[in-house]
Amino acid sequence: MKVAGRPMPHESAGAHVTGEALYVDDLCGRFAILLHAWPVCAPHAHAHITQLDVLPALAEPGVVTTLTQADVPGEGDSGANRHDEPLFPIEVLFYHQPVAWVLAESLEAARRGAARVEAAYAPLPAILTIEQAIESNSFLTDQLRIVDGDIRDLERSPVRVKGELRIGGQEHFYLETQAAIAWLDESGCMAVHSSTQHPSETQEIVARVLGVRRNQVTVECLRMGGAFGGKEVQANPYAAIAALGAWKTKRPVRVRLTRELDMAITGKRHPYLARYAAGFEPDGRLNAIRIELYSDGGWSLDLSEPVMWRSMFHVDNTYKLPAVEVTGRVCRTHKTSQTAFRGFGGPQGMLVVEEVLALAAQAVNLPADVVRQRNFYREGDHTHYGERVGDAGRIEEIWNTLKASSDFDRRRRDIAASNAHNRHFKRGLAITPVKFGISFTATFFNQAGAVVLVYRDGTVQVNHGGTEMGQGLFTKIQQVAAESFGLPVSRVRVMSTRTDKVPNTSATAASSGSDLNGAAVEDACVQIQTRLAVVAAAILDCDPPDVRFEDGHASARGKGVEFGALCETAYKQRVSLFAEGFYRTPDIHFDFATSRGNPFYYFAYGAAVSEVELDGFTGQCRLIRTDILHDTGDSLSPIVDRGQIEGGFLQGVGWLTIEELLWDERGRVSTAGASTYKLPSWSEVPDVFNVTLLERATQPGVVMGSKAVGEPPLMLAFSVREAIRDAIAAFGHGRAITFDSPATPERVFFAVRQVRASEYTTGR
Ligand code: MTE
Ligand code: HPA
Ligand code: MOS
Repeated sequence: MKVAGRPMPHESAGAHVTGEALYVDDLCGRFAILLHAWPVCAPHAHAHITQLDVLPALAEPGVVTTLTQADVPGEGDSGANRHDEPLFPIEVLFYHQPVAWVLAESLEAARRGAARVEAAYAPLPAILTIEQAIESNSFLTDQLRIVDGDIRDLERSPVRVKGELRIGGQEHFYLETQAAIAWLDESGCMAVHSSTQHPSETQEIVARVLGVRRNQVTVECLRMGGAFGGKEVQANPYAAIAALGAWKTKRPVRVRLTRELDMAITGKRHPYLARYAAGFEPDGRLNAIRIELYSDGGWSLDLSEPVMWRSMFHVDNTYKLPAVEVTGRVCRTHKTSQTAFRGFGGPQGMLVVEEVLALAAQAVNLPADVVRQRNFYREGDHTHYGERVGDAGRIEEIWNTLKASSDFDRRRRDIAASNAHNRHFKRGLAITPVKFGISFTATFFNQAGAVVLVYRDGTVQVNHGGTEMGQGLFTKIQQVAAESFGLPVSRVRVMSTRTDKVPNTSATAASSGSDLNGAAVEDACVQIQTRLAVVAAAILDCDPPDVRFEDGHASARGKGVEFGALCETAYKQRVSLFAEGFYRTPDIHFDFATSRGNPFYYFAYGAAVSEVELDGFTGQCRLIRTDILHDTGDSLSPIVDRGQIEGGFLQGVGWLTIEELLWDERGRVSTAGASTYKLPSWSEVPDVFNVTLLERATQPGVVMGSKAVGEPPLMLAFSVREAIRDAIAAFGHGRAITFDSPATPERVFFAVRQVRASEYTTGR
């Protein structure tokens, strides 16, 4: 029986629920004489540091030492690309920015010591909003731009919509906050356990800060308790501080942010301001669209530039944009440095076109689903950056299948009927599609390596460059290796991610963890299998290509040899039983100067139908039912993929409806805790939740016919925002309804009030 594609629980599911699964900070107990680190945080969003005296901290019992720039043997900066993130700044660039660290025998002592540090600041004016940044010409990037077709068609169009949309950011709220432990190994080299999506980059930054070469640093990641993009680069500074502390004191050092500190100082999803204008035909077909995007990048560049590119690549979602001009610019503000978050800018770009289509549907007085469908890509179409949408037919296939299976048309009639005699509670229904480009847009990241070891007893250890953050990558890797060798998964062990096993890896990100690392692992397995087939062929008296690896045996012509026995024989014949695997995604390229190319290897598709009930008195919405049809190719692991779809959808629902990040006038994150920042939980799960994987969806050229699934389902939550819009509309008679994101109860309440007020004034 096939192992790949079999519905299997996550390989750590049991350990997750019993608490036996280990995360970085659980390893503290293994280190004697461990020191704890706590930062000295600046009480200004923007200021010069006029005085910093750390000595008083040493008077605090338990404090061992402090860390300042004077302790840095290398370069005191953790900025991955631009080197714009000083670990010990002289100018404070966001509220609570760490300016020094204190190391102590206990966390409490470190905190008390940090409070004793004497610092003085000369406050400077702070830029806290996108509007202020635009006004002050405060940007982290130049303007990025993609144009296609004749944008003058916009002014020539009979129907036009124009407006602004503000899109809120999002806190990652990974259950495990940023964490690292560093120590000197017996050779005097630096060893780090880090909760990082990108161990190779963490290694690079640690080496940079210590002023040593990369082979002097080993970074290991057992697993993460969630990351969602928040540990793609932002794990680095904490690993660097732990390493610097261990370097200075020769003692193991632990850094783990508390929840409040993590929420106060780490980056989030980028808030956006979008300005748009679009021209349509009276039948709802789009002629031309102009979009200006501004993101709030915060105090440093981080990944904001590729995030903005991905937004600009995704302003089409599933729609053909005949003429388009999209620009993007990252604003520099005195706030946390915004970073990767599931979707990586794609969600913000896609939300804009969904907003525009919703308004166009109201303008031409057609159902939104009709307008959406009329604008779908057709087979053979190209995107606005010149990539052919190879399997565009899947958009319509998914759409029609889901509309039928969710009983969309009948339910819409029923809802209209029930809304007609329900004055204060209205239901809304909407269907929205998703197309998401798979690959890192920086082409060189699309590579992966693996080292597969087969032991003489026929058991296997797999090393690869990907990290596990709950998404089930290790489960899939285990299945790929087991499938390749025809072994049960119990014979395959996936090892923790270490830079001394596989070097120069990419972040586990862009949803491509299993595409890249799975293919590298498969490559290694095939090499070993090819060698084993020669050994087996001699035993089974056949040609090597005739040997099949199945059910723990190598077999041909009705005869078989047990896999372990075969490995023992191969060993005795001095045949190598390990191999390195490598994979590079073929056929992708992009020219950022001309904004043309094929940045994506393929697209992932899906669609969702959601129904909500809106309480006109409070603006509160209840999610009654959601139906999802999602394309995972030939799923490597259907239970894992279902979890990704359900979890991604719900994370999107949180972003779009209840999670609201607020900064106060001093630039402080005023929602730095679960008490003030509302997260989706069990109560946000739709009462009826039908998730289906698209059938007969083999993706050629991807490991075992599968498709990436990590990020795309987040955007299925657009269906909820649109269902809310539909419900708001039911309080009036078809007026253009626009509201910023997230659609919190307050915003929805006021939108309802506005719709009702305009009904009264028009006397209907
Ligand atoms: N699922 C869980 N449970 N936890 C996570 O942190 N991160 C998401 C997604 N699913 C995440 C998750 C993000 S942002 C990405 S890019 C992918 O998983 C990364 O893993 P993959 O490439 O192996 O899908
Ligand atoms: N997606 C996600 N993470 C990334 C990307 C991307 O395109 N590029 C760099 N990091
Ligand atoms: Mo995911 S935002 O690409 O880590």
